[in-house]
Amino acid sequence: MFNKEIDFIKKLYHNKSIINLHEPAFLGNEKEYLNNCIDSTFVSYLGEYVTYFEKMIAEFVGVDHAVAFVNGTSALHIALKVAGVGASEEVITQSLSFVATANAIKYTGADPVFVDVDLASLGMSSESLRNWLAQNTYKEEINNLEENKNQTRCFNKSTKKRISAIIPMHTFGFPCDIEEIVKIGVEFNIPVIEDSAEALGSFIGDKHLGIYGKAGVLSFNGNKTITTGGGGMLITNDAYFAERAKHLSTTAKVAHPWEFVHNEVGYNYRMPNINAAIGVAQMEKISEILKNKKETAESYYNHFNNTEVECYFGNSNMNPNYWLNTIKFENESLRTRFLTETNANGIKTRPIWNLLSELPMYQGCQRGELINSNILEKTLVNLPSGFRS
Ligand SMILES: Cc1ncc(COP(=O)(O)O)c(C=O)c1O
Repeated sequence: MFNKEIDFIKKLYHNKSIINLHEPAFLGNEKEYLNNCIDSTFVSYLGEYVTYFEKMIAEFVGVDHAVAFVNGTSALHIALKVAGVGASEEVITQSLSFVATANAIKYTGADPVFVDVDLASLGMSSESLRNWLAQNTYKEEINNLEENKNQTRCFNKSTKKRISAIIPMHTFGFPCDIEEIVKIGVEFNIPVIEDSAEALGSFIGDKHLGIYGKAGVLSFNGNKTITTGGGGMLITNDAYFAERAKHLSTTAKVAHPWEFVHNEVGYNYRMPNINAAIGVAQMEKISEILKNKKETAESYYNHFNNTEVECYFGNSNMNPNYWLNTIKFENESLRTRFLTETNANGIKTRPIWNLLSELPMYQGCQRGELINSNILEKTLVNLPSGFRS
């Protein structure tokens, strides 16, 4: 039934026998920098590549501070902690996301609350967020003893727990309605942390994703736009936030020439120099990688445009990274047939994740109406999107 699509994808990827969803592309100085790293003996978290990689990312996304982590999940965990999320609190996120988004919330001791996504952007729906907050929360003035001032906080009417953060996610690198979500955060006094793990190289106009809220997080896992093997980055314009994130991720070690002073419970979450060395080489090629991915996305869009399959491309104000190209079928049975036929032909297409709110550990969590999430869970497919050489 899908022979035309199979031929098209095979041709796009030069008739390779197996076409993976997203392979890393090593195009430049990776091996040289790894050798330098080994020769220098600085292979762990101290080393010049870490500092250099942080600078490159900060410059590329247009932010004042970037802090490198072992992966995106640990960066999300620390971003939440620094934003003030604690045990027995609640954090709002979307049900349609990778499991790491909810896991990072759980690591802080807080519980996720799931809202719906938008059919057009695939990211958090600002309308669903606003409705849930309006119907389920109340505000209260709290005296902050540390800062000696009153602060307005937002609480859940039924659980009486504080809502301490909102984490929207930019699905597959497509920008969600982040400007509106940040406005809602201000209105309800809740900080926004952007899960932009999939969005390196994605912009709205000329503003990079991940820098609209209090902080954002990127991932450099092997399947992402660029990779460091494993790795993540916290990006923020807030110097204090960055400093706290760096301290907590470096086992809360206080600088001293020889003593081991750790002044609170910290985490061993800093990116090793050896991973950063790969990251520097990858960032040197980011423009080439993004251009190649955009061309692939255009090919898919031209192929699927005016067919019964919807191909996501973003609107004219968006400049997504086209991390994973995405199509939507009219119903689940067509989607299953497409997945079966393409995979039988060596094309590793994939469905989107199962809803987080349905996973065993999150089934008991509060949620809004998840109408769009349920539709998309059954009808979306990711197409091979890696670098085409
Ligand atoms: C939406 C989302 N959040 C978080 C992560 C976690 O990143 P990492 O795998 O680097 O821990 C990923 C990707 O892996 C992701 O896709």
